[in-house]
Amino acid sequence: MADVLEQIDQLNAQAMAELAEAKDAAGLERFRIKYLGSNGLVSKGMMKLLAGVSKEQKPAVGQKANSVKNAVSEAFENRKAELTATGGTSREFVDVTEPGKRPEVGNRHILMKVADELTELFGRMGFAVATGPEVEDEFHNFVALNIPRSHPARDPLDNFYLTPAGEVKGGAAAALSTESPILLRTQTSTVQIRVMERQRPPIRVVIPGRVYRPDTVDATHLFMFHQLEALVIDHNVTMVDLKSTIMQFIHAYFGPETKARFRPSFFPFTEPSAEVDVYFEDRQKWVELGGCGMVHPNVLKAGNIDPEEYSGWAFGFGIERIAMRKYGIDDIRHFIENDLRFLKQF
Ligand code: DAH
Repeated sequence: MADVLEQIDQLNAQAMAELAEAKDAAGLERFRIKYLGSNGLVSKGMMKLLAGVSKEQKPAVGQKANSVKNAVSEAFENRKAELTATGGTSREFVDVTEPGKRPEVGNRHILMKVADELTELFGRMGFAVATGPEVEDEFHNFVALNIPRSHPARDPLDNFYLTPAGEVKGGAAAALSTESPILLRTQTSTVQIRVMERQRPPIRVVIPGRVYRPDTVDATHLFMFHQLEALVIDHNVTMVDLKSTIMQFIHAYFGPETKARFRPSFFPFTEPSAEVDVYFEDRQKWVELGGCGMVHPNVLKAGNIDPEEYSGWAFGFGIERIAMRKYGIDDIRHFIENDLRFLKQF
């Protein structure tokens, strides 16, 4: 028995001596595995010694083995704490001469940047910027724009109505509107009316903003997108002004070589109306930017402007389309997917 106890003492002394030699994290780990690991000299080795002693001797040997085990574990933890505190190599080395890490401040979303570029450009052509609400009533989204009640554009399936069509009385809806159902605007043309309500001609504004339509999402469609609307009202305004201003914009923004064309079209709020296409060189095809036309006399009347005295023109273009043509973006979904690899490029 004395022999076994002595062996345990020896093991203890050996462990303590070796622990003092451990100078870093790797040394500590080697020590831990050799002595305290599941196959280590302290854990397993002492169990073996214990197995070899007689039944009467077991309590004394067991007690000794346990106290050595505790002592070695404790010494190990102390050594570890000591090495970390004194900056042993287990701690990361700090190079104070290293250049600092730049905080990521982000940047403006490409669509906001394009909207700014557009309002800037039209600003230089004498246009002010106007805005209006995204939650609209039927008067501004349809009625004043010469879209009659029977028109398919008013179908609840083509609009995000916030109150059931024709049912507004009472509740939260009444607080928002007293006489008309409300919806998310489907076009920025609503703001043409809002501008006429607060301003007399001459009017020369562009209106950037979000619009909403329950469209199925694909590479060219989203349920929410942005438009740039323009409205000009003055004496003697003609289709020549419309066409030359739009061509000037296209050539200034996309480059003087850019091919563009006007196609006859129909919109309830303009007469005559046209659609504007720009040629996308990279895809080798015509892409529609949006619509335009001479403001319909009924729209001027809805805005309390005398169509006998004044005339006007307007357009509404998709800002996503413009951004895609300008920056070679191939899928409209990139704009809302929040992929930093895309967003960081601009
Ligand atoms: N509001 C139309 C749309 O969203 C686009 C449009 C067409 C706007 C002709 C106009 C215009 O101002 O004159 O499809």
